[in-house]
Amino acid sequence: MFGRARLISRPANFRPLRQPQIVNRRYASSAALQRWAPILNVITAAYAGGLIICSASLFLLYRDAVDRQNIPFEIGVNNTVTAVKAIGKDDVLESPRYAVKHYRRLLIELAKKDDPDLEFGETLPDGLRNYTVPLLSSDVLLQKKSKAFANFYVDIVLRYARALLAKGLLRNALALFKGIADDDEIFNYIGDPEKMSQCCRTLSRVTDDPAEQFKYLERSIAMLSNTFQSVRIDQDFLLQDDSQLTDELLLSLNALAFCHAKYASTLSRKQQKQELNKALNIYLANLKALTTVKDRIVSGERSQASYPLINCDVEGLNMSLAEIKAHISEILWATNHKESAIAWSEEIVHDIYFEHSRNARASPILDGVLGNLQLMYTKTKRPEESERCEALRKDLNVFDKGQRSWYDNLIRRFTRIIYHKGPLGVIEKALKERVGPVQPLPDIESYEDEDEE
Ligand SMILES: *[C@@H]1O[C@H](CO)[C@@H](O)[C@H](O)[C@H]1NC(C)=O
Ligand SMILES: *[C@@H]1O[C@H](CO)[C@@H](O)[C@H](O)[C@H]1NC(C)=O
Ligand SMILES: *[C@@H]1O[C@H](CO)[C@@H](O)[C@H](O)[C@H]1NC(C)=O
Repeated sequence: MFGRARLISRPANFRPLRQPQIVNRRYASSAALQRWAPILNVITAAYAGGLIICSASLFLLYRDAVDRQNIPFEIGVNNTVTAVKAIGKDDVLESPRYAVKHYRRLLIELAKKDDPDLEFGETLPDGLRNYTVPLLSSDVLLQKKSKAFANFYVDIVLRYARALLAKGLLRNALALFKGIADDDEIFNYIGDPEKMSQCCRTLSRVTDDPAEQFKYLERSIAMLSNTFQSVRIDQDFLLQDDSQLTDELLLSLNALAFCHAKYASTLSRKQQKQELNKALNIYLANLKALTTVKDRIVSGERSQASYPLINCDVEGLNMSLAEIKAHISEILWATNHKESAIAWSEEIVHDIYFEHSRNARASPILDGVLGNLQLMYTKTKRPEESERCEALRKDLNVFDKGQRSWYDNLIRRFTRIIYHKGPLGVIEKALKERVGPVQPLPDIESYEDEDEE
């Protein structure tokens, strides 16, 4: 502005004094520079500011992705960008279907990097994408790659499989999960034990075959007890008193008990009892182990440091205990111990009903338990009790899924803006909102194609 004003006010016939050419030109250009300096300064500042904001916001996304998933440097810049996009869309935007294309590209590029002559059909004969990607073998991972890379690679394969599941591509997802879980080297030596166990639990949830459901859960439990030396479990999968616990171990054991209970419903009456008893015993052993942990934490005798592998937050332990008790109550009902079943369920309501306004995990548990109680009271002809349960159930708080921390909200906001408008969108949005109304952030579904890379 100032530079311009001075230029205009200059008399039209103004001529500089004659001077030797070179000096003259130098003088003129430096004078022009001086006149334009304020504008240039503003532009430079804006440019630098833009650059800083761009790099800062891209760096923020990168740091966030690395916090969620370690990304080794050896995969190169382009693959890192693909990985950050995939992890951002998968974890932050919670749109795994939009992450599929990036995971797929990443796995293809990593395979090509290992074998530049690799040939495979990217599209199927019917014109659709080939979601079966070439994978690195466990020998290559063990012998040619670093530990960090091998770990990253296995995680990405699992993430890809989960994302395919979200996209409804069950067959491809199952093949990938099984490829990981059946490979002894990957399963026992390369993959992270907790993630391998998650893989088995997912597999047991999505396969129809009961034999496979048991097989993968038992495989996961065996692996965890080999990995963590002080885990003690007997041949019936009952936790022993002196056993160490891990979150994944408890989840796998609970899942195994659940499989036994579910399988029981397909059997004849006598076999049914046997399966239900197996389930009940596993649940009771888990309940005992977890109750011991909670009591020691509450009394102050032990702390989180004594149990590094489980989350000792008392509220969380209360919820896990309630979940186990709910299953026990159902099994007792199925084995015709009606009054005990009711008593176990009532205990859960007593323990956690007042948590439902504070803890998002409580409502779904209570919803199931109160529903069961309503039925149990109806079947045992106690209509007032049934109505009481119905009323309690109606009062339950329904949480929406997203109660996020400020950090999660910030990252989510940045990610949404950047994938929509690019890194400068962060400034553009802030500027527009200074002069105009708040601009709503569109969901990824409205501006991005699910499959177009
Ligand atoms: C990375 O991607 C850019 C743009 O897509 C491309 O030009 C470049 O060749 C790629 N670099 C490598 C090493 O693949
Ligand atoms: C799809 O990719 C896999 C390997 O990644 C390959 O074996 C298969 O032949 C491809 N399918 C087609 C139809 O090209
Ligand atoms: C856990 O549950 C017990 C009842 O079993 C209750 O007294 C206690 O306040 C709960 N603790 C938390 C932190 O929710």
